[in-house]
Amino acid sequence: MAKHIVCLGFPAFGHLLPLLQLAKNLAKHHKITLVTSAHAVEDLRQRGLIEPSTSDSSSTSLKYFGIEDGVREGFDITHQSEETGKNFALIMIGVGNFIRTLNLRTDGPTDTASPIPPVDFLITDISIGPCLTTIVTRKIPFYLLNCGRAYHTALMVLLVDENSPTVPYDKAPAFLEMPGEDGKLHGPQPDGQFQGFFIPAKRALPFSRGVIVNSIREFEGETIARISEQPGMREIPVLCTYPQLQDQTAERKEDDTEVAQKLKSWLGKKEAGSVVYIAFGTLASLKPDQLKELAAAVERLERPVIWSLKSAQYVHLSDQLQEIARKGLDDPNSRVLIVPWAPQRMVLAHSSVGVFVSHCGWSSTMEGLSVGVPFVAWPQRSDQLMNATFVVAKGAGVLVRGANEAREVVSANELVRIVDGVFAEGAGYAGQARVLRDIIASSSQTNGSAELDYARLTQSFLN
Ligand SMILES: *[C@@H]1O[C@H](CO)[C@@H](O)[C@H](O)[C@H]1NC(C)=O
Ligand SMILES: *[C@@H]1O[C@H](CO)[C@@H](O)[C@H](O)[C@H]1NC(C)=O
Repeated sequence: MAKHIVCLGFPAFGHLLPLLQLAKNLAKHHKITLVTSAHAVEDLRQRGLIEPSTSDSSSTSLKYFGIEDGVREGFDITHQSEETGKNFALIMIGVGNFIRTLNLRTDGPTDTASPIPPVDFLITDISIGPCLTTIVTRKIPFYLLNCGRAYHTALMVLLVDENSPTVPYDKAPAFLEMPGEDGKLHGPQPDGQFQGFFIPAKRALPFSRGVIVNSIREFEGETIARISEQPGMREIPVLCTYPQLQDQTAERKEDDTEVAQKLKSWLGKKEAGSVVYIAFGTLASLKPDQLKELAAAVERLERPVIWSLKSAQYVHLSDQLQEIARKGLDDPNSRVLIVPWAPQRMVLAHSSVGVFVSHCGWSSTMEGLSVGVPFVAWPQRSDQLMNATFVVAKGAGVLVRGANEAREVVSANELVRIVDGVFAEGAGYAGQARVLRDIIASSSQTNGSAELDYARLTQSFLN
């Protein structure tokens, strides 16, 4: 029987995109309402990621509901500021109110003023922290969605407790401390996150019907085993359904743009596996000093380069690179292309690309690994280190040191040396990247791990 499921999202793109894709897939068999901040629903619409609202929306099984929480901008955080703190509070108030008025189908007729029809259960981003408490108190059945690695939220959350030492947020060396060799957290944790996020999430986890992870079981096996050993977690399934959280459409709108066409024709003229693609995602940005060193490395590299760099940062480039950036894609013979935006999936999948210099956000990491490109893994915030160390531990790339320490500037010479090292014949990074690519591909085959986990998920809806 079709269920009515609310997919409750955290309004940052890295979080909403996997949830949106999951919602689209589930909507083939169930009625789904995707709920998040009103401005984020509008953003998704403007980017063409959700259908424009039609007068006859009753015919579709996927609906959207925007919470009017007063937040006006995306929550794609580069750093914690006063504004992001305020926005986070507003989002939590909005989500909290939404949950309090929600009607459950099992409740029968009620008089609460829910803006949407009665629901069977929720699939909620784990990042709604304190609101999870409200869900548990109201005894609303729920699944948790973890948009990063299993390591990222599920395990980290379980490792802290009320007695974990904390420090004020601005004194904390890291957004999350990496666990030590013994699997325990030793450093103090930033107090804001701790009270507002970790503890409520930890308390909610054992009440969930399952944890959905944006990864594949082959990459998370050990972590999942450790999660299951935590109190109350033995019976909670941890399901890794990465392919179902990704837009699999072969032809995307973004690949059709003029930028994409020009990039494709430029790439088409390069040797297989020769191009360096540099992109730090929408969130991460380099300090000016570091950017200058990277720019010098780009000039020194004797390889073709595509550098996706926000135009606001062009001022830090040399005159020569600024000239290149100004020409954009109009010089088909240029060794270097600097563009404010690139259709990343298309670029990475091109056979001419040989190395991906990345901050290793988890979605970029999986995008690169899915097409078998080796990495220069250069995390910019300490929590990204976990994604980066994963890539390095698997032998699919080299880590640029520095994210977790007092960050020193990495020199142009060292960067050139690292990039050349990943290309080096016999280094084995490219081969290992292809091994990981094949593992990801097989996870979505019939009886592949991700297919089986997804089947387990949808089966569990019936219980
Ligand atoms: C990995 O990537 C995710 C998604 O981009 C990001 O939120 C997180 O900071 C990164 N680090 C870990 C440890 O997952
Ligand atoms: C998938 O697994 C089932 C049960 O083990 C088996 O009957 C079926 O033949 C498998 N399908 C494929 C394509 O391997």
